[in-house]
Amino acid sequence: MTGRQLIKAAKEAQAFSYSPYSGFKVGAALLCKSGKVYTGCNIENASFSATVCAERTALFKAVSEGEREFSAMAIVGNTDLCFPCGVCRQVMSEFCGKNFKIYLEENGKPVTFTLGELLPGRFDFKK
Ligand code: THU
Repeated sequence: MTGRQLIKAAKEAQAFSYSPYSGFKVGAALLCKSGKVYTGCNIENASFSATVCAERTALFKAVSEGEREFSAMAIVGNTDLCFPCGVCRQVMSEFCGKNFKIYLEENGKPVTFTLGELLPGRFDFKK
């Protein structure tokens, strides 16, 4: 699956965005190592703080279906280069390594980052 194909899937999910408060529509598509793709959109809430980002929707859908290994995620928003927020980067880091690919779109073309580039250090819980 190419970055372009994953971005297309993210755009299809973006159409389902529930964002009556911000009007900012985000879509994400997550490629599992199994080959399956899970998509997600942002789901806002009147309380604002209960809003969930598109990236976490896709990840939680996949994890709740038994997936644990991921290779890439495409993210699209109302603007070019819609970077994942810090919370989503941390959630990605729970399951994905430094080489996990993140495809964003700029001028109609995929731009690739790695999770290691976007989150050089993660919070880790050591007992
Ligand atoms: N949003 C995402 O879906 N992903 C991000 O990484 C950052 C922000 C959503 C949350 C909210 O619905 C809207 O974008 C504006 O912040």
